[in-house]
Amino acid sequence: MTKKKGSTATAGAAAGSKVVVVVCAMLLTLAILIFHSDEFKFQSSNFTYQFRNNGFGENSHGFQSPPKIAFLFLTRSNLPLDFIWASFFKNGNQAKFSIYIHSQPGFVYDKSTTKSSFFYGRQLNNSIQVLWGDSTMIEAERLLFGAALADPANQRFVLLSDSCIPLHNFSHTYRYLMSSTKSFVDSFLNVGEGRYNPEMLPVIPREKWRKGSQWIALVRRHAEVVVNDAIIFPLFTNFCKRWPPPKHATGRQTLKVKYHPNCIPDEHYVQTILSIRDLENELERRTLTYTMWNSSIPKGDKRSWHPVTFQYSDATPLIIKEIKEINHIDFESKHRTEWCRVNSTYTPCFLFARKFTPGAALRILKNG
Ligand SMILES: *[C@@H]1O[C@H](CO)[C@@H](O)[C@H](O)[C@H]1NC(C)=O
Ligand SMILES: *[C@@H]1O[C@H](CO)[C@@H](O)[C@H](O)[C@H]1NC(C)=O
Ligand SMILES: *[C@@H]1O[C@H](CO)[C@@H](O)[C@H](O)[C@H]1NC(C)=O
Ligand SMILES: *[C@@H]1O[C@H](CO)[C@@H](O)[C@H](O)[C@H]1NC(C)=O
Ligand SMILES: *[C@@H]1O[C@H](CO)[C@@H](O)[C@H](O)[C@H]1NC(C)=O
Repeated sequence: MTKKKGSTATAGAAAGSKVVVVVCAMLLTLAILIFHSDEFKFQSSNFTYQFRNNGFGENSHGFQSPPKIAFLFLTRSNLPLDFIWASFFKNGNQAKFSIYIHSQPGFVYDKSTTKSSFFYGRQLNNSIQVLWGDSTMIEAERLLFGAALADPANQRFVLLSDSCIPLHNFSHTYRYLMSSTKSFVDSFLNVGEGRYNPEMLPVIPREKWRKGSQWIALVRRHAEVVVNDAIIFPLFTNFCKRWPPPKHATGRQTLKVKYHPNCIPDEHYVQTILSIRDLENELERRTLTYTMWNSSIPKGDKRSWHPVTFQYSDATPLIIKEIKEINHIDFESKHRTEWCRVNSTYTPCFLFARKFTPGAALRILKNG
C-alpha cells in the first residue's frame, strides 16, 4: 500500500515536473512567437497591449475605450457623399468609430471642403498621388491601415471609396462587424485570366495567386499583416501592372516597354498576401460592399468592366430594399452559391454599396 502510494506520489511528482517542463516550453515558444510576430514588430512601443491582443482574444481589451471600427476612405479629393455618412455617424456612438481619409497630397478636409465636421482634419498627412490601377493604390491602402493601427482601440478596418454609401444604421453595422472574428475579403483562385506574372516566383507561386474585390473589411491582426508586408508589395510594384501601360508612365517611350500581363494590383494584393500567409481560414470570402454589374453588356466589352453608377432615378426604395435583403451570392464561373454568414449565423450579405451619385444618395437619405 505504502509503496504504491509512494510510487503514486513519485509519479505525481514526475508528472508535476513534466507539467513544469511543458509549461516552461510553452512559455518559451510563446515568447519566441511573440518576438517573431508582426504584431510585435509593428508596435514595439506597446508590448503589453500587443501581448494581450495577440491571436483571437480581441474582445478582451486591456484598456477602457470600447473597440472601434476604423472607416478608411480612399478618395480623389473631397467626399461627395459626406452628407449621408454624416447622418450615419451622427446616429452612431462616437466612442465606437474613427475616420481616416486618403486624398491627394495637400488636400485638406475642413469647413471649406466638407459640410460635415466628422471629416475635419481626418486626411492622412503622408498621402501620396494615386494612379488608378497602379501600385500607388495599394500603397494608399497600406497608409490608411497603418494610420488606423496607431489607435489600439481600432479593431475592424473597413475600406471604402468616395462613391460608397452605408446601407444600414451605425449600430447594425457595428454589431455585424464586431460579431465576426474573421475578415471579409472576397478572394478566389484566379488562374484563367492570365494576370499572374511568373516573375513573382518563388515568393508568389501560381496556386497562391488570388483575385477579389478591393473593398475589404479586415480584423486588426490582418491589417497588421498587410502593413508589415515588405516582401509581396515590391513584387507587386514591379510585376503587377496595367497593360497597356498608362501614358503618364511611359511618355513617348510606349514602344520600348516590354510586354507583361495586364494586372490591377488592388484586385489581388491583400487577397494574395493572406493566401501566402495561410490565413484564408480566417476569412469570410466575400465583400460587404454591393456593386451592380450591367449583365446586358456582353463579357469582353470594355464597358462591362465598370460597375453601374446609381443615379437619382435608379435609387428607388424598392431597389435599395432588394440590395439590403440579398442573402446569397452566385459565383457563376464556379457554379456555386454561397449563403452569407457572420459567426456561423445566416445573414444578409451587404453593409455598404457603390457607386452612387450625390443625387442617388440624397434620395436614399430622404427615404430613410
Ligand atoms: C499601451 O496601450 C495602452 C492602451 O491604449 C495605453 O494605455 C498605454 O499607455 C500604452 N503604453 C505605451 C507604453 O505606449
Ligand atoms: C494631420 O495633421 C494635423 C495637424 O498636425 C492633425 O490635426 C491631423 O489629425 C492629422 N491627421 C491624421 C489623420 O492624423
Ligand atoms: C438600427 O437598425 C436596426 C435594424 O435594422 C434597428 O433594429 C435599430 O432600432 C436601429 N437603431 C437605431 C439607433 O436607429
Ligand atoms: C459567435 O457565436 C457564438 C455562439 O452563438 C457566441 O458565443 C460568440 O460570442 C459569438 N462571437 C462573437 C465575436 O460575437
Ligand atoms: C446596361 O447597358 C445597356 C447597354 O449599354 C444600357 O442600355 C442600360 O441602360 C444599362 N443598364 C444599367 C442599369 O445601367
